[in-house]
Amino acid sequence: MRKKIVVGNWKMNKTYNEGIEFVDEIIKESLSHSTDDVLKIIATPYIHLAAIANKLEHLNGFEVAAQNCHHNPKGAYTGEISAAMIESTGAKYVIIGHSERRLYSGENNNLLAQKVNIALANNLTPIFCIGENLIERNANMHLEAIKIQLKEALFHLPSKDFIKLILAYEPVWAIGTGVTATIHQAQGMHNYIRSEINKKYGKEISTAISILYGGSCNTKNAKELFDCIDVDGGLIGGSSLIGSEYLAIVNSIKK
Ligand code: PGA
Repeated sequence: MRKKIVVGNWKMNKTYNEGIEFVDEIIKESLSHSTDDVLKIIATPYIHLAAIANKLEHLNGFEVAAQNCHHNPKGAYTGEISAAMIESTGAKYVIIGHSERRLYSGENNNLLAQKVNIALANNLTPIFCIGENLIERNANMHLEAIKIQLKEALFHLPSKDFIKLILAYEPVWAIGTGVTATIHQAQGMHNYIRSEINKKYGKEISTAISILYGGSCNTKNAKELFDCIDVDGGLIGGSSLIGSEYLAIVNSIKK
């Protein structure tokens, strides 16, 4: 059985104290809700990782993630953070391949493949993002765009590593825009991703891997998206910044 997962991606939001307050609030709120069957991952800026990993350590079903890692193990890369450093904070997950990093930091599939390798080598689970942009969608090239991202960034992995990944389908045109993929578009793409994984790694792996939807997912549309058969939860940006909204999205997953 694949896992239901809701990742909150804070992006570059929240000071240190704001982050700690947020986590204290969701710890309090979640004690009164039973969401143990949903894995809840908070992807914070680096500065919060150790403190929040520590706070969440004994809370069932909560984990913390970094939003990026460097592709080299260590060395003279001023300002960068390695996978080993992230792992040493107690974080177990890292987002890799987010479209904002592809766009603003020029990260391509080749570099992202190296980041996936180094994350896995340091016992971090990559939450790997794939998604087409609007030009590709309008040109009916969206399936091809996703196929290339999967092939170039992930399909070098042996089965024993590929199975460790969490995937997130995030159409770039839906991120932060208020435009969400329709159920038809989301389910169609998740099914396509699973079929490509099936071709490469077989049925057991393609049915076991969790594929999350991301892009303007909020308290109003989460339930219908999460009810799609091939959607295993969400990667939530803007709507994960308020504790009660994040938990409401978690609670909209079908039990
Ligand atoms: P959004 O961001 O929910 O604000 O659209 C999603 C993401 O970028 O992961």
